Amino acid sequence: MNEIIVSGMRPTGKLHLGHYLGVIQNWVNLQDKYDCYFFAADWHALTTKYDKTDELRQNTLDVVMDWLACGIDPEKSVIYVQSLVPEIAELNIYLSMITPQNWVERDPTLKDMAKILKTKEGQGSQVNYGLMGYPVLMSADIMMFNADCVPVGIDQVAHIEITRDIARRFNNLYGEEFFHEAKPLLNHCSLICGLDGNKMGKSFNNDIKISDTAEATSKKIMSAITDRSRLRKDDPGHPDDCEVAFKYWTIFGDEDEVSTVRCECEKGLRGCAQCKRQLGDKINEKLSEIRERRKYYEENPQLVEKIIAEGSAKARVRAQQVLADVRRLVKMY
Ligand code: TRP
Ligand code: SF4
Repeated sequence: MNEIIVSGMRPTGKLHLGHYLGVIQNWVNLQDKYDCYFFAADWHALTTKYDKTDELRQNTLDVVMDWLACGIDPEKSVIYVQSLVPEIAELNIYLSMITPQNWVERDPTLKDMAKILKTKEGQGSQVNYGLMGYPVLMSADIMMFNADCVPVGIDQVAHIEITRDIARRFNNLYGEEFFHEAKPLLNHCSLICGLDGNKMGKSFNNDIKISDTAEATSKKIMSAITDRSRLRKDDPGHPDDCEVAFKYWTIFGDEDEVSTVRCECEKGLRGCAQCKRQLGDKINEKLSEIRERRKYYEENPQLVEKIIAEGSAKARVRAQQVLADVRRLVKMY
């Protein structure tokens, strides 16, 4: 039997290249070696966006379409929506009973989220009960399929630690080595920064979406920062100080292209505008297949709905098996 992988993302809108290179590409590669469960965490989206649910459905579809476009394959992996697997909510109840309050209070990611909320005005600035339960619900997601590994970005590792603690506590309390202690699986590729050199994020307006058109991508790339000390196009440039454009070359170009860019830049033989025009073309070439697939699913949303319905049904079958064991171990009626 293969090891089991579970991972999810909150459906907050269309995904960008940071998601693709940081997480999804990793998922795609894992599909052949593991039994994979990938889901849209719509309950987790509610922990902070409970008052903005108008776009939740479309956001969920968008996230799943981005995954499919990137190569997550419904023949290989189970693709589902968290709220369509209500067994997770029941498991969440059992886990919340055995999780000490101070475990969730010391969760660093949660502390950061609370800090951001406090900068907002009015009712939305409160930390609600559901948000406090974020790491427990995440543990339920992972333990629902008794996962062995959880491929995530570095920012989620603290949550996986809590999951391991909760699994251990469950096993101790209910007298059986039932739950595995899931390990985080980190992607070792270097993180892609945003067009302005900061972390790529949709709220910073510095991202390139998987679903952006080639034209939009080229235009965005032209705004990427380059070696700031360079005034004229025949000045010798410093690729290593060119934090965004050259960095992108190293991610999307092959070895020869990168060394040509470096060499021509250092000799003042390549202007930044020309360089970024070429870079835009390069990125578009690399993404063309993904974007064609994205377009196909956009034009056939009923296909995406079907994938979600079938995946969620499959996930429930497995979840019900685990839940039956959990109920027996906890000694529920
Ligand atoms: N917290 C994750 C994020 O913000 C999403 C998530 C929810 C998740 N449940 C999970 C990731 C379980 C991995 C496993 O991206
Ligand atoms: Fe960066 Fe290219 Fe300009 Fe050199 S020529 S500074 S690599 S954008």
